[in-house]
Amino acid sequence: KEDPNKLAKARELSEASKEPQIQIAKTPKSEQPQKGREEKRLEKPRNDHRKPTDQSTKGHTGPRHTLIGGHTFYQSPHLIKRRDELLPKRQALPIWSQADAIRKRLRETNVLVLTGETGSGKSTQVPQFLQSEDWCTKTIAITQPRRVAAISLARRVAEEMGSLFGTQSPAAKVGYSVRFDNASGPKTKIKFLTEGMLLQDMLRDPDMKQYSAVVVDEVHERSVNVDLILGFLRNVVSRIENGKEARKHPLKVVVMSATADVEGLVDFFAEGVNEARKTPATLSEPTAISQAVRDRISTCFVEGRQFPVKTTYLPEPTLDWVESALKIIFQIHYKEPLPGDVLVFLTGQDKIEALEKLVNDYAAAMDKDMPKLLALPLFAALPQHAQQRIFQPTPYRTRKVILATNIAETSVTVPGVRFVIDCGKSKIKQYRSNLGLESLLAKPISRSAAIQRKGRAGREAPGQCYRLYTEDEYKTLEERTTPEILRCDLSQSLLTMKARGVNDVLNFPFLDRPPQETLGKALMQLFHLGALNEDGTVNDLGIKMAKLPVTPTLARIIVEAARPERDCLLDVVDIISALSTEDSIFFNIATEEKREQAEEARKNLYRREGDHMTFLVTVQQYAEEQTDRKAWCERHFVSHRAMQNVMNIRKQLRQQCTSLKLLTPEMPTSSSSPNTDAILACILRGFISNTARLCPDGSYKTFFHNQLVAVHPGSVMHGRKNKAEAIVFSEFLYTNKSYAKKVSAVQMNWIEDVMKEVVPI
Ligand code: CDP
Repeated sequence: KEDPNKLAKARELSEASKEPQIQIAKTPKSEQPQKGREEKRLEKPRNDHRKPTDQSTKGHTGPRHTLIGGHTFYQSPHLIKRRDELLPKRQALPIWSQADAIRKRLRETNVLVLTGETGSGKSTQVPQFLQSEDWCTKTIAITQPRRVAAISLARRVAEEMGSLFGTQSPAAKVGYSVRFDNASGPKTKIKFLTEGMLLQDMLRDPDMKQYSAVVVDEVHERSVNVDLILGFLRNVVSRIENGKEARKHPLKVVVMSATADVEGLVDFFAEGVNEARKTPATLSEPTAISQAVRDRISTCFVEGRQFPVKTTYLPEPTLDWVESALKIIFQIHYKEPLPGDVLVFLTGQDKIEALEKLVNDYAAAMDKDMPKLLALPLFAALPQHAQQRIFQPTPYRTRKVILATNIAETSVTVPGVRFVIDCGKSKIKQYRSNLGLESLLAKPISRSAAIQRKGRAGREAPGQCYRLYTEDEYKTLEERTTPEILRCDLSQSLLTMKARGVNDVLNFPFLDRPPQETLGKALMQLFHLGALNEDGTVNDLGIKMAKLPVTPTLARIIVEAARPERDCLLDVVDIISALSTEDSIFFNIATEEKREQAEEARKNLYRREGDHMTFLVTVQQYAEEQTDRKAWCERHFVSHRAMQNVMNIRKQLRQQCTSLKLLTPEMPTSSSSPNTDAILACILRGFISNTARLCPDGSYKTFFHNQLVAVHPGSVMHGRKNKAEAIVFSEFLYTNKSYAKKVSAVQMNWIEDVMKEVVPI
């Protein structure tokens, strides 16, 4: 009898060798583009950094040309070589032996719940296992909670398939789509996308007809968006299971998780099938889920590899974990042999950059004969090319120290790590419903997150984990992280649901039902923004807002700015782009002397009216700078990285506005003198719940909740002698006291005007 594993391997090998052969598709003459420049451009992929040099093609037969759609495409032997090199690595992954089982289950049923440890190969292999199935005639979507994971996975899978990726060629089979960056096209077979982008797709295509399969990855993270996706998919699945959806091949749904509660997910989907099978007579009666219904939901468990990891706790609690981490990094470096990289979990960009600097300073002072230390930051807002450095092999006689946020917990697999240092905290979004404000706070992680972090040290060999907290502190941690849907602002989620036709949000199939109060607050917020009709259904304005890839508040501002009486859309888009970048444009400056210098240099960007107009001036001056933008940033003490990001967002937002017909080609692309009053009125229309009035004692109190807020020291409005009678702010920070960040001065009567609109009298 033949060994089934061998059979699976042989099959995968033969499939993998077929992959780069792009199918020949004849295009009718009339559809072929005109000869000339266009065709030349298509012949060779642009930006193909991996184009072979003479050396890399040695031993190969030279570039391969493949015909597609009447065009000849260049196929790099370098890509094929790389694909073949990676094949043994793929075959060594724990999931490899399950390929046939996974395919079989999805041939027989439409939903599969797949669990397996991080690094077992779920995200990279499952789409490749499925792409050649008979039912897979369209694209496979795989969702990720973070953009960095979506992009790096797309790159990796393209490499494994010997294909170009993203925008490198119109023939690329693997692509990605993240907010403000779409690198997929009609030929994309495997598309990695952030959860938010899939929700956007669901607005346009509620039955997911453009996809053959939707793979929902990292479900254990339980982001709000994943919960919404699962609810929507459950509805689609129950329609399909009950024959209400006419499709040649039913949509396949794969739910993947590192630590999921399998039973809970199976029950969740089975309940959907059950509900839809009910007859009108039994509709209101609760019915037990039969085994036959449960059998419609398949499961698969992938056994992971995990080497033992030794845990060390701090003897005493500490507040300064940056310093504790620094000490341990050097202790490891001096004591432990190479290879063995270090992964440090910190809360956010500020702590990461502080530790990076310290590591570099101390490393520079090491003896010359010591192996080198290479500090590499990893956080969501880091530009792509910097993130990719994490995945490159560690140079000779060097130890990598990766300084990461909880991105590296389950989302991104960093190779070579033997030591983990865990600060025990992560920044989480917390909605304070009594204030109606959302803030990002560093909070203790859960025990299950601590176990995940520790596990990262034992992927390739036995490892060590240093916890920067005591064993007693560990014991007090909550067992699991509370799902985001139970602790965040739901206005964007509700708007998505309403725009998707779910009016009765209270009866939406939530995996965990958010508290009534949070749902109520979110509905109120949408009413305030004018997105809903009186009966709670979404209106045209709400639909437009839902199509913009920003929060309902920012979307409302954009739509307001497009109204003829405001006529300031381009300026508002500039400001919103600046608000949407995660990097600080005006970064913190460490030394007193430099700070003075920076304040002086930034003075000509600062505007009396506040931070929003300051952002506008900064974006416009930067955009006008044609010769050397980097030097411009250095002169003005502005982050070049943040500004590059702003320009990218601005481009995407302008495109979105054009496709929603808010922007027309005849509009001028820049305005010489911005209409400050109109711009601030738009900002106020969105951020009406973030307003505060000046009290006789010189403090500010919010209009809606009478909460004391101080203007943040980072604002241009901080420390003003002549205080504005009212302020609007687009960010709220709660540390030991409440701060308004990104603040502008507004007039009381403007606020009253908006109030009349939002709270009908
Ligand atoms: O999804 P899961 O965590 O189960 O595993 P995966 O993301 O498919 O990763 C499988 C393996 O692929 C990892 O152990 C890495 O060696 C490799 N990988 C990589 O090198 N670069 C990436 N961007 C993603 C994965």
